[in-house]
Amino acid sequence: MCPFLSWDSEYARELRNFNSHGDEGEVWFGEDALFRVLRWMEEAALADLSAPVLDLGCGNGVTCAHLVAAGFTRVAGVDYSGDAIELARKVAEKHGAEVTFEVSKSTARGGHTH
Ligand SMILES: C[S@@+](CC[C@H](N)C(=O)[O-])C[C@H]1O[C@@H](n2cnc3c(N)ncnc32)[C@H](O)[C@@H]1O
Repeated sequence: MCPFLSWDSEYARELRNFNSHGDEGEVWFGEDALFRVLRWMEEAALADLSAPVLDLGCGNGVTCAHLVAAGFTRVAGVDYSGDAIELARKVAEKHGAEVTFEVSKSTARGGHTH
């Protein structure tokens, strides 16, 4: 898929799919990359499972749900797409994962808008 398509329309479609048949949607960088990051988080970087973790551009929130399953207790995900965040909340609920999600758009200067 073309990366320059709107994420809003992509997540509107993914949210419809989840509501219709429970499909959680794409892991955009692939599951290999997801599990490599998770291993790195667990083994090297953040042995402190109570350290806060922010997934910026969390999309469907699958990474957040996996982080909680790995034992991280303070996981948050943000995305500018409202449908992505609605989907992420539903995916987390399905996995029984407690994650804080927020619609927020990061800016080039490091700030964010709601
Ligand atoms: C390539 S997708 C990755 C989604 C998810 N992390 C994954 O691995 O499947 C990029 C995500 O970043 C979000 N995004 C892009 N620019 C953003 C910005 N400035 N602020 C917040 N979210 C943004 C998009 O809505 C989209 O969900």
